[in-house]
Parts: sequence; C-alpha cells; structure tokens
Amino acid sequence: MTETPAAAAEIADQAAYAAAVQTAVAASAAYYGAGDSTLDDDAFDRLVRGIAAYEEAHPGHVLAESPVGKVAGGAVVGDVPHTVPMLSLDNVFSPDDLVSWAAGLERRIGRPVARWSVEPKLDGLAISARYRGGRLVQLVTRGDGTAGEDVSHAIGLVRGLPDRLTEPVTVELRGEVLMTHAQFEAATTARTEAGGTPFANPRSAAAGSLRTRERTYAVEMTFFAYGALPLGEALPAHDLPHSEIMTWVAALGAATTDSTPVAGTTCASVREIQARVDAIAALRAELAFGIDGIVVKADHSADQRDAGLSSRAPRWAVAYKLPATEKITKLVGVEWNVGRTGVIAPRAVLEPVEVDGSVITYATLHNAADIARRDLRVGDHVTVYKAGDVIPRVEAPVVHLRTGDEQPIPAPECCPRCGDAIDDSQQRWRCVRGRGCHAVASVRYAVGRDQLDIEGLGEKIIDQLVAAGLITDFADLFTLTRDDLLTLDRMGETSTDNLLAAFDAARRKPLNKVFCALGIRGTGRSMSRRIARHFGTMDEIRAADADAFQEVEGVGPERAALLTAEIADLDALIGRLAAAGLTMTEPGTVPRSARLAAEAEAAEAAAEPGEATPAEADADLPLAGLSVVVTGSMTGPLAALTRNEVNELVERAGGRAASSVSARTSLLVAGEKAGSKRTKAESLDVEIVTPEEFAARVAAYL
Ligand code: IVH
Repeated sequence: MTETPAAAAEIADQAAYAAAVQTAVAASAAYYGAGDSTLDDDAFDRLVRGIAAYEEAHPGHVLAESPVGKVAGGAVVGDVPHTVPMLSLDNVFSPDDLVSWAAGLERRIGRPVARWSVEPKLDGLAISARYRGGRLVQLVTRGDGTAGEDVSHAIGLVRGLPDRLTEPVTVELRGEVLMTHAQFEAATTARTEAGGTPFANPRSAAAGSLRTRERTYAVEMTFFAYGALPLGEALPAHDLPHSEIMTWVAALGAATTDSTPVAGTTCASVREIQARVDAIAALRAELAFGIDGIVVKADHSADQRDAGLSSRAPRWAVAYKLPATEKITKLVGVEWNVGRTGVIAPRAVLEPVEVDGSVITYATLHNAADIARRDLRVGDHVTVYKAGDVIPRVEAPVVHLRTGDEQPIPAPECCPRCGDAIDDSQQRWRCVRGRGCHAVASVRYAVGRDQLDIEGLGEKIIDQLVAAGLITDFADLFTLTRDDLLTLDRMGETSTDNLLAAFDAARRKPLNKVFCALGIRGTGRSMSRRIARHFGTMDEIRAADADAFQEVEGVGPERAALLTAEIADLDALIGRLAAAGLTMTEPGTVPRSARLAAEAEAAEAAAEPGEATPAEADADLPLAGLSVVVTGSMTGPLAALTRNEVNELVERAGGRAASSVSARTSLLVAGEKAGSKRTKAESLDVEIVTPEEFAARVAAYL
C-alpha cells in the first residue's frame, strides 16, 4: 500500500527554530516565486513538520512569520483579489491517516459522506482562469490565496485552456498549470538555445514560464481543471456533485484529468478510495506529467457545505501525498561507457541519494548533445528523477546553487575502450569499430541463456578467443575447429567436445533466438519473438522495409528506421550465420509474404468455406487475442521456467506477452509477491490467475 513515512526535522532549541523558520520562508518564497527553491519537496515538508512539532511543544516561542498553517507558507502576495480564496489542502501520508481523516470528516458532518471523488494531485501551479460569455479573459495565480498575480499574458501558451468554450458561459475554472515531461524537454532546449539557464524541473519551468512577460523563445504548458466557480452569475452546474461539475467542464472544452489514464473517479467507501490511490500510484511512472499525490474530496455539495473550511484548507478534501520522485544531489562526474553495439554513452555519477525507495548513484545522460542542451557541469547540484522501475535520470542543474567552481564536462576525444576514432555524425556517438569495439560484450550477449544459450562459453574463454584473433564476432564461433579450442587455457578434450555440441545445439535454435543474438538496438527478447513470428524467415526480415516493420506490434517509425539500418549493417554477419548452418526460420509460423498472398486470395474468393486461413488457425489457440502479463515468482509446473520461458509459453499458446499492466491487458498471471502489477490489474478489473491455473490452461503447450 502507498505510504510515505518522512520524519519531521529535529529542532533542538529556540535558535534552531528561528533558523528553520527563516529557511522555510525563503524556500517557500522561491518555490512560489521564480520556482527555484533550494529545498526539494521532501526536505521542505520535513522542515515544516519539524517547525510545527517545535511550536506545539513551545507555544510561547511561535514566530509571526512561521509558515505553519499558512497558504503558500505565507510567501507571496498578488494584486488581483480572488472571488473565493484559493486554499491549500491538508495532507495524509498513509492508509491509517486516510481512515482517520475520513472518520473525522464524517463525525463533523454527523453522517457518512454520500460519495467520494478521487483524482490525481497535479504537480504544477494553481491557476484561476476567468471566462466571460465563453471567452477566456483573465489568468490569475494563487498568490497568497486571497489575491494573486495577473498572468493573462500567458493566454495562448497553455494547452487545455481554450480561448473560447463550447458554450457562452461565465465561469471561473480552477486548476493546475504544469509542463508535461515532453513540454519540459522542449522548453529546456528552447531556453538554453536562446542563451538562458535551464529550469530545475517541470514545476519550476511552468512557474517561471507563466510569469515571464517577454520571451524570445516559445514554450507550451498544460492546464487541467479541478474545479469551477460562479463568476458573478449562477452556474448552470450549480449544486451538482464535484464529479458531475467536472464532466460539465470537460464538455465546455477545457482539459480535465478525464483525458488521462488517472481520470477522476468516484468511490463509495474508504477501502475503494485506498484501492484507487494505489492504482494511481502504480500508474505514476507512466504518466506524461508529474503528480505528487492523490486528492480525495467529498463529492456532494451538501457534504462539502456541512464540512466547511478552515482558514487554510477545505475540510472536505485532503491530499494523500506520494513519496517524492525528485531529489537534489551533486553531479560528481561523468563516465563514458562503450556498449556492445559500440555506442559510447555518458552516465552521470552522483553523490548517493535516496529517491522513491532506492539509493541512486548513477543516472542516464543520453548523449553529448544532451549534456550541452542541459548545460550540465561537474560539481553542479542537479535534480534527479526516479519513479517505480524507471531508470533514474538527471533532469537539470540547479543553477542558482552554482558557486562558480563547476567545471565543463569533458567529452572523450577517442573511443574510451579501444582508442580508435569516434563517429560523431549522429547524436549517439559510436566507436568507428561499431560492434567490433566491444566484441567480448556482443559475443557474451549472443551466447546468453535467452539467445543462443551456449553453455560452457564463459567470459574467460570469449576473452581468449578474441585476444587470440580467433573470433571477431559470434558468427566466427561456428567456424572454430576442435584444434582451435584445444589451444585455449583450461580447455581439455571433454570440455572442447561439450562446447562443440553446444554450438550444434545453437544451430538448431529458432529464428527468434538467432535474431535476438544479433543484439540489434531497440530489440529484446519479446520484440525478437514478435519480429520472427511476423516475418517467419530471416530472408523476409532482411528484405523488409520500414513500413513492413511497422506492422509489428510496438514498432513505430523511429524504431522501424533503426531496425532497417541495423539489419543492413549486420547483413554480412547474418550471411555468415546462415552459411554456418544456423536456423533461419521460425517453426510454426507462416512467412509474411505467404500470409499476405493467402489473405489477398481469401479476400478475392470471399472466403470460401473450407481450409482455415493462418489467422483463423491462430484463433483456436487458448490465448488467442489475449495480452498476458506475468509477475511474481512462479510455482507449480511453471516453477522451473525463467520469465522469458513463461513469456515464450504465452506466445506459443497464441497470446501476446506484455511487461506492464494497462487497460489493454487481458490476463495477469500473478505468482507470489506479485506487488504493484497485481494492484493495478485489480483496479482495472483485469482477470488474475495463479501460476497453477495458468499452467492448466496452457498445459498442451508446456
Ligand atoms: S482541489 C480548495 N484538486 O494542490 C482547494 N487541488 O496543496 C481545492 N492541486 O492549491 C484544491 N491537483 O493547486 C485540488 N486535483 C486537484 C489538485 C489540486 C493539484 C493543487 C492545488 C492546490 C494544492 C494544494
């Protein structure tokens, strides 16, 4: 279950208390102002909770400027009065907190809450958008909650806030302005290209961009509404439940979370709320924008009215906070590593920091151009992002924390592995030797268990073979003689014979394994299986153009282009594999060209009754048309299988093996310790079976 146990900061005495108040007020002013706080959200929350704890123990010491209990930490004021104050939200951090909060609310109104509304807490800035006669006339920030700043100059830059609504209504929409991850990347590029310094994260980027009046580069932001208020005249949606007001707002043409995978839903009980909270938390890493929690509201207006407001927050709503996915740490260096395809990729070395449950020391940096675009320097404080299983990434430097001692990141002048030249004609740099640069790595990959599965060919032997010049790639393995192998250290007669037998077994592996062994960028085990099943033979794969590749599920234009380029690059190697007797067909599949011909014929003959077409034959398989996700540890008849082998089983039985649960998932095979995928499947009403039940269903294919 979703829980955030962040401890309050320890404040020992009155001096420490005063210093803490000062730090929090400054951080809050920066956060709500230019968006450049020196504290990440976690550190700020801990500090304010520490201050609150100290104040409770020492009521006599409370300073007037304390941020406790104030909207926006008491940081900012504006000059446009709000029609109704823009309040904050109280927080809960755990299932128990949620239960007590809901019970407290029901006690207050003297009856059960009729219905709850549950929606994501969007990580941006609150905005009030005023529409008169259906036209957008003014945008105002939250400010101190009573009055905000007029930012109407940003009209036109914010998606989801149309200039005109579909009806000529007068209404004030309230919601959040944010940058999606893609908008943040685009804004970073535009701003650094224009000579500006990068924003630390999407939230600061939205805050800064909203307030800037004159800008020489274009930025785009996104709005999602979470409420609507009357503006001088009663609303047609007056007194409707919150959820129905949101449906009305969406019909007016403004964006609501309804168009996202974490749409607002209604719940009848606290148990249902918790399930939805867990489901939203599980979807977090896949969203196109940041969320920092889930907002739970009493849905009916009568319940809201009876609950009332405190000076800071409504009593009918609460924010269930999720763990922070972003932290600030220091970039101590950059390593350049050569992968098995010869790509030279930079990796950030960080001062270790805990983010979303794990300690991060490395993070992805895509390429040299990316480093320049982000204006990163060694010694910078940087924002790092990680959610769930997502590979940690460096978002941006925190520019206002620079001391002047930061150093440019040196780029390698030659391949850091072999010293040969770098091909920098593409954004991704590559050693001019390509796969040959790190032959040991590409051979090791090709002979791995999920590829050609050549047992007995360990790293030490591969090292020797490469060093002796006996092989330069894995096709050469199949030309090795008994005598060649006997020259190697620690290779006796028996191990040599075993190895030769393993080479023979590898020759019999189906096309998908051979294709996977090529180690083409953008293809793993399941993509290789899909490609092999789609084309049926290596010749058809070699002849395929980008359009044909896009017929394969999960292949878009970019990957299709990469595939055709890589396959052309590997043509000679593939030819040598074929000559060495490796299997170039996928058993049990009909080649694409034959399938297309049969389909054309069937269409022409208007499907005369009789023989099944290949597609119909597939439809008889037990998992035909089903998308299956496997998670947790396997038991019973599946206990001995690797995850890849279970996925192969899924596909033999006609299903599609997927790695993450989504609305398209048909079946989840959940073993022990299934975790978040199970929660997500439950919330999406996906059928869930045990490994034993699944094994029974596909017994004929085991
Ligand atoms: S409702 C009366 N719903 O969170 C306050 N707020 O910490 C009603 N926020 O100022 C706010 N997503 O800017 C509401 N779905 C959501 C929200 C949301 C983000 C922000 C909002 C508010 C802040 C409070």
